[in-house]
Amino acid sequence: MSEDNFLAVADTTDIDLGQSQSVHVNGVDILICHTEEGVFAVEDLCTHAMIPLCGGEIQGNYITCPLHGAVFDLTDGSVQSPPAFEDLRTFELKIEGTMISVKNFKQE
Ligand code: FES
Repeated sequence: MSEDNFLAVADTTDIDLGQSQSVHVNGVDILICHTEEGVFAVEDLCTHAMIPLCGGEIQGNYITCPLHGAVFDLTDGSVQSPPAFEDLRTFELKIEGTMISVKNFKQE
């Protein structure tokens, strides 16, 4: 499969504003997040203690880890607040109609 391909992973009608949905793609858990600025895809794994971010509170473009409270910017994955200090992996996505697709990627 070409890496230019996009893989359908979710539907916008299933993810309300301020909510997220975890999907499993190519062996990676990806969190699809619906924010006021759009929909973003980050790895569903906090870089602090490697637990899922799914269920973390989303405010604006930021998500707060549900375990220890690290904050990440969903637009670029950058860490904004400790105890995490490494950025989140991000994934390119596109939306056609209500279908959310993630660009195919190499496993790390
Ligand atoms: S596991 Fe996310 S801040 Fe500790």
